[in-house]
Amino acid sequence: NMQQFVASLMQKMTLEEKIGQLNLVSVGFDVTGPVVSKDVDANIKKGLVGGVLNTYTPVAARKLQALAIKESRLHIPLILGYDVIHGHRTIFPIPLGLAASWDLDAMERSARIAAEESSADGINWVYSPMVDIARDPRWGRVAEGAGEDPYLGSRIAEAMVHGYQGPTNDLTRPENVMACLKHFALYGAAEAGRDYNTTDMSRQRMYNEYLPPYKAAVAAGVGSVMSSFNDINGIPASANKWLLTDLLRNQWGFTGFVATDYTAINEMEAHGMGDEKKVSELALKAGVDMDMVGEVFLKQLATNLKEGTVSQADIDQACRRVLEAKYKLGLFQDPYRGVTEARAKATMMKPAFLADARDITRRTLVLLKNEGQTLPLKNTLNIAVVGPLADRSRDMIGNWSGAGDGKQAISILQGIKNVGGAGVRVTYAQGCNVTDDDQLIKRLNEHGGELKTDPRPAETTIAEAVQAAQGADVVVAVVGESQGMTGEAASRADIGLPGRQLDLLKALKATGKRLVVVLVNGRPLTLPWESQNADAILETWFGGTQAGNAVADALFGVYNPSGKLTMTFPQSVGQVPIYYNHKNTGRPYAGVLLDKYKSRYLDVPNDPLYPFGFGLSYTTFTYSKPTVSQASLRPGEGLNVTVTVQNTGQYDGAEVAQLYLRDMVGSSTRPVKELKGFQKIILKKGESRQLTFHLAADDLKLYNDDLKFVAEPGEFQVMVGGNSRDVQMASFTLAP
Ligand code: IFM
Repeated sequence: NMQQFVASLMQKMTLEEKIGQLNLVSVGFDVTGPVVSKDVDANIKKGLVGGVLNTYTPVAARKLQALAIKESRLHIPLILGYDVIHGHRTIFPIPLGLAASWDLDAMERSARIAAEESSADGINWVYSPMVDIARDPRWGRVAEGAGEDPYLGSRIAEAMVHGYQGPTNDLTRPENVMACLKHFALYGAAEAGRDYNTTDMSRQRMYNEYLPPYKAAVAAGVGSVMSSFNDINGIPASANKWLLTDLLRNQWGFTGFVATDYTAINEMEAHGMGDEKKVSELALKAGVDMDMVGEVFLKQLATNLKEGTVSQADIDQACRRVLEAKYKLGLFQDPYRGVTEARAKATMMKPAFLADARDITRRTLVLLKNEGQTLPLKNTLNIAVVGPLADRSRDMIGNWSGAGDGKQAISILQGIKNVGGAGVRVTYAQGCNVTDDDQLIKRLNEHGGELKTDPRPAETTIAEAVQAAQGADVVVAVVGESQGMTGEAASRADIGLPGRQLDLLKALKATGKRLVVVLVNGRPLTLPWESQNADAILETWFGGTQAGNAVADALFGVYNPSGKLTMTFPQSVGQVPIYYNHKNTGRPYAGVLLDKYKSRYLDVPNDPLYPFGFGLSYTTFTYSKPTVSQASLRPGEGLNVTVTVQNTGQYDGAEVAQLYLRDMVGSSTRPVKELKGFQKIILKKGESRQLTFHLAADDLKLYNDDLKFVAEPGEFQVMVGGNSRDVQMASFTLAP
């Protein structure tokens, strides 16, 4: 069995070889830090490398693996990792978009396809899911996560782990890959939304609001965890024994291995934790097993051992965990895991995957506004398609698009032509650049942005777009962010439309033509003018390989949008952090203008622009008032909540019915509402359906001030509706 196999292998290993297993190096593309690995081939042969990231293709993967298994003394295979975040070759919408589908099966399917493609490309370990709860849209990495909610984030974490690792977690199957839960932990709570910044929060907040998705992924059997860059209450995650050992292993029962983020051990010197020798000791002692790219373990652990700051048992434990991961992946049986050119060719971007991508992408689109039923467009129109993101296929696949090829992605302009067909006349004008900030463009292009900007004055290019609009029946303006404006190291202090895009929209509006705004972006944006003045707004994220077709399906009504936001859109960046599950405060503001001493701003409202859970459809849904199966519960009991949803509009459509709970009295202050359930249903025009939600006894619990998970007696309100704002309520009590 695994334990015996690994133990007997370790008996043959020298100290150097054991430390070598803890060394993860980068070969290839996607360098995301200042360090690049050197002497990789030679080190693999010496047994000084445990894993490699950033290399794929059957040829490259087999070549690396052959070095390890043929030329190193003990023939130990490498683990091969890569950032397969929202697809590998077939790219799906960014994770924030996928989350907006509220469709767990669709998300699992996207991860399944990513697993099949990446495993066929020689990868066996993927750095996903990223489950960091984020409430600050200035942070560029909100694009990579599921948004602000711990309950939804937990369900998505489970679905993604199952998608990558297979439903039974059998990693020996060559089409499954090991998932890596990241970034552990609380990376999404970076102060001021500035990437890599400090996080500091109470344990109670962590347990109730930020940790649940990580815990859920561990319970779902995730094989590995990535420790994050940030510090947590003063201790960097990668030196944090409480986090990596007490919580992750002792409380949650995690048995896989922990790798750091890119040079995170080295970076603890800049955090002020000591020199390289010291941070090496701290990381190993805390529970780090693998050092990503930094080679600190390789350089320092033997000295740490000699000086007695780490023990042989500490090194053995980390080595054992890495070897066990390789064993679980079946690498000792078949280090190549059946990777061949033929399999790769038959797998990558096959028609079934592209069809799934189009279907999944459609589910992620969120209709934010649709005045006077501007959408869907009739396909007998003269359409002006304008805006700097209309003709951009590279941007469609977004950030962290793995091995995806922007050239193979369908732009929105192309999608409109494809779906609109012969009856539609399309006139295109770029209108303006996505940004005119030369420094920013240079930076984006250095990292694969492929942005070509129009050097002419914006007035000239905007005039061209206006001319196109004047000759059209309707204007579709595709605006937003270029892919590199979100993601890692892409925080923004101003989260409105960049550059001259708002001026473009204003000029288009002045033509008097109906204005459809199609947003391409990776974070909640502030859109005060747009929300007032556009006739329709469709949020499309970075939609992946099939983005253009999927967006056009929605624009022409081939598909009826059903996505709902999983992150609040603020009215003003000054409201950030803004999230639906906030506390009530002692002086909640109830909207009475002259009420001075209340929790509010003088210059902006408290309300968001678009709340969590919000998204329209071409049809309308009405909800009955919810009823509860019991008005009074005894401790340990659950209850059912029933509601009837009716499609009252003119189209068939899908709706996400959401259930929220409020604990009215507790030993600690409680959020004004918390998501505890949702159901995505399809209703035909005129159809109604009764939905039953089950609230289990655990759904009523909170982590109290002593971090005990308890249900506290008293009144609870249960709310059901189509978003977190528009809900109807029933109540029940929990007896002491
Ligand atoms: O997986 C990523 C992580 O999200 C950010 N730093 C680099 C890692 C590996 O590429």
